[in-house]
Amino acid sequence: MLLHYCLFTITQTRDCPVSAPTHAQVTFNEFGLPVATAFGDIYFNNENGLAETNYVFLQHNDLPARWQTDYVRPFVIAESGFGTGLNLLACWQLLLEQAPAELKLHFISFEKYPLRPDDLRRALAAFPQLSDLAAELLAVYPPAEPGCHRRILAQGRIVLDLWVGAIDEQIAAWLPHSEQQVDAWFLDGFAPDKNPDMWQPELYEAMVQSAAPGATFATFTAAGKVRRGLLQAGVNVQKAKGFGVKREMLFGELRGAIAPHAPVTNNVKQVTIIGGGIAAACLAHELSGAGVSTEIISCGVADAASGNPQGAVYPLLHAERSPLAEYFSLAFGYATHFYQHYTTNHWHATGVVQLAYTEARQQRYEKIASARTNGGPGYDPAMVQFRSTAATQQLWQELPAYPALHYPTGGWLAPAAVVTQLFQGHKVKPSATLTRVSRSPEDGSSWQLEFADGQLLERDTVILACGAGLKQLLHPFGLQLQNVRGQVTQVEASAVSAQCPLVVCYKGYFTPVSQGRHCVGATYDRDSEDLTLRPADQQENLGNLIDNLAPVSWPKQLRPCADRAAIRNTTKDHLPVVGELKPGLWLLGGLGSRGFTAAPLAASALTAALVQRPLPLPAQLWQRLQPQRLCNR
Ligand SMILES: Cc1cc2nc3c(=O)[nH]c(=O)nc-3n(C[C@H](O)[C@H](O)[C@H](O)COP(=O)(O)OP(=O)(O)OC[C@H]3O[C@@H](n4cnc5c(N)ncnc54)[C@H](O)[C@@H]3O)c2cc1C
Ligand SMILES: C[S@@+](CC[C@H](N)C(=O)[O-])C[C@H]1O[C@@H](n2cnc3c(N)ncnc32)[C@H](O)[C@@H]1O
Repeated sequence: MLLHYCLFTITQTRDCPVSAPTHAQVTFNEFGLPVATAFGDIYFNNENGLAETNYVFLQHNDLPARWQTDYVRPFVIAESGFGTGLNLLACWQLLLEQAPAELKLHFISFEKYPLRPDDLRRALAAFPQLSDLAAELLAVYPPAEPGCHRRILAQGRIVLDLWVGAIDEQIAAWLPHSEQQVDAWFLDGFAPDKNPDMWQPELYEAMVQSAAPGATFATFTAAGKVRRGLLQAGVNVQKAKGFGVKREMLFGELRGAIAPHAPVTNNVKQVTIIGGGIAAACLAHELSGAGVSTEIISCGVADAASGNPQGAVYPLLHAERSPLAEYFSLAFGYATHFYQHYTTNHWHATGVVQLAYTEARQQRYEKIASARTNGGPGYDPAMVQFRSTAATQQLWQELPAYPALHYPTGGWLAPAAVVTQLFQGHKVKPSATLTRVSRSPEDGSSWQLEFADGQLLERDTVILACGAGLKQLLHPFGLQLQNVRGQVTQVEASAVSAQCPLVVCYKGYFTPVSQGRHCVGATYDRDSEDLTLRPADQQENLGNLIDNLAPVSWPKQLRPCADRAAIRNTTKDHLPVVGELKPGLWLLGGLGSRGFTAAPLAASALTAALVQRPLPLPAQLWQRLQPQRLCNR
């Protein structure tokens, strides 16, 4: 396993080419059921798709009987071909009806051609008995962007990781952090003769590598090539009567012919988090969801960069598919879903518009939103759209006459309220300033934490998530981080500005009204960590709003009423820093100017790595976030 992993990290730290995902082309047949035109095959049985799922995938993986045993970790299912999500919904229903209440499910599925949301809705309408679950799935269904889309379902009982892209590409990005993790494989996909590209030995080998002790598989097909491929990979393959008119199907134990191995165990039960902002709050939330208890120590709660009155949430995209854009496209989807799910009252999904107020910006934005066939990166319009001047002004007639990028699922949040809510149920030890982290002199394996008041603590597992405080704390480790001062200005709403329905971005940003005020952000000053408020920064914020939105005049009427300064922690490549710096010493920082977009996925990934569960990120992207990249020695 180690060898495999090392080889992987060497070859995969270069970004692997990822094929552009496209939506499935489907027609609906005489039964009203979806048919994939490219494959000439059906998604599920015309007579009774749900009964087939139950028979093939659930019964032949021995569910729910296997769920009755006491699982300390979530039961992990992996599936080839998400399609309509029928297998997920059937499994979900079974979980609700027949699993012990404490059992959680981690459902991982790969899909090359995601259905369009409207087609998905229409396809799932065939199962009225699953309508509530289908509605919940549809509400969180991700855009057709490559990589892993993590979604929380069933009030946190189910985590769905939907990996969009060809399975051979995506599985290579998934497997390094999923070895020995999967309890049951649903080997679905269109019929092997109609979809030979998918039914390859590499898939069977990956199934075996990912299999936990006792893992099983089931598939609807009994094709000789599939059976031989599975046997070749070491799978114990059995035949059973097929569903309905089908003669045979296959099922069995994935590691049947392979020597038993030690299960993956995670010994981390207690973690100390330093910080009281969005990074620490997301971590506390994710870790407790993973059954890890947390001790949180900080100078304060939402007292620093995460304490601004309003924060905008939208991704950082590029006119080519850079790792930065890849991270932000995945992080953006997870963040909006996360805030909607866990902090509903403080999240406002108003949409975000980014004005192309110069010719150069217009060209850049056109490229960002254009399809690959036109030389652009080809992002899904569900995430970002280019709007003409007229279409931009349809968003709000008081916007200036510029074209724009529009992020329909973006919005704004109330940072302090979000942070406080995520910390609910956690005790934060306040007013404690960490001054030094070093190896414990007594016992070289734990970490000694020295505080400004002289207190000393020894801890085995520490996560530093303390924003601007990281720069100085990590200096002795040779880690290069930068701090950047910023000031936001609040203005009183006018009759016109109070109608602004969405976040408006230009050189700065302008948020919809909250408690009679808007937030106008933000200055960016690399050379200062001084929190004294500056009149010049206020003028800069208001000046950018007035100039960039000219010729509309309403910004000129706005009067400033408050300012706030804070420090961003940034990295030279603008990616967050997430991972284990030294054994037992972890970091989550470098959240820069988009911390509220970046933090939830970063915390979810760090938690998965810490407790050794499948990561919600492609392995090569995870490699790019590692702290070691910032070490100058
Ligand atoms: C002016 C401005 C405007 C911004 N606007 C947006 C926006 O619209 N949208 C967006 O997504 N992002 C925005 N950002 C960026 C965003 O605020 C940050 O990326 C994010 O808040 C960082 O979160 P954090 O938890 O890493 O750090 P912080 O929120 O800064 O929290 C750090 C925490 O650690 C504590 N701490 C620090 N040092 C120590 C120590 N030595 N010992 C103990 N505790 C310590 C602090 O007290 C604090 O509680 C803005 C930033 C600024 C400055
Ligand atoms: C029969 S459908 C799956 C049905 C699905 N499990 C359900 O519950 O609706 C097969 C799915 O596999 C997907 N698929 C086919 N080839 C693939 C590949 N190489 N990689 C990933 N997905 C693929 C198809 O797009 C299709 O959605």
